[in-house]
Amino acid sequence: MFSIKRVLFVTLAASAFSVASFADDDVDAKYNKSCAVCHAAGVAGAPKTGDAEAWKPRMDKGMETLVASVTNGLNAMPPKGMCTDCSEEDYEHLIKHMAAAK
Ligand code: HEC
Repeated sequence: MFSIKRVLFVTLAASAFSVASFADDDVDAKYNKSCAVCHAAGVAGAPKTGDAEAWKPRMDKGMETLVASVTNGLNAMPPKGMCTDCSEEDYEHLIKHMAAAK
């Protein structure tokens, strides 16, 4: 017999899967597997994601300087911020994402 529950389950499972595979290439996915490790909770003095006040003095340095800090590492932050496949453009997106007030 045709089961609506089963159809719903399959549909949901399929859409969850497609979102996950799309996110692989996405800046969000890069954030989650690298920057978030430290910046989500503010580990070792990292400016916290969504804390615009903590990011203000960083943003004042200018985007170019910030991207250089990530690329070369800064104190407790390892070079590349643990994102081996991030481009300069990705870093810009990631930094804007983290510095935006939540
Ligand atoms: C292992 C922990 C860790 C990871 C992973 C990490 N950061 Fe950081 N980040 C820090 C810490 C700690 C600081 C503060 C460094 C300081 O000022 O002493 C920081 C500071 C920064 C700054 C400010 C730099 C400046 O010049 O003031 C930027 C921008 C930044 N992180 C971006 C990123 C991005 C983008 C990622 C992901 C690609 C990332 N971070 C991943 C720990 C981390």
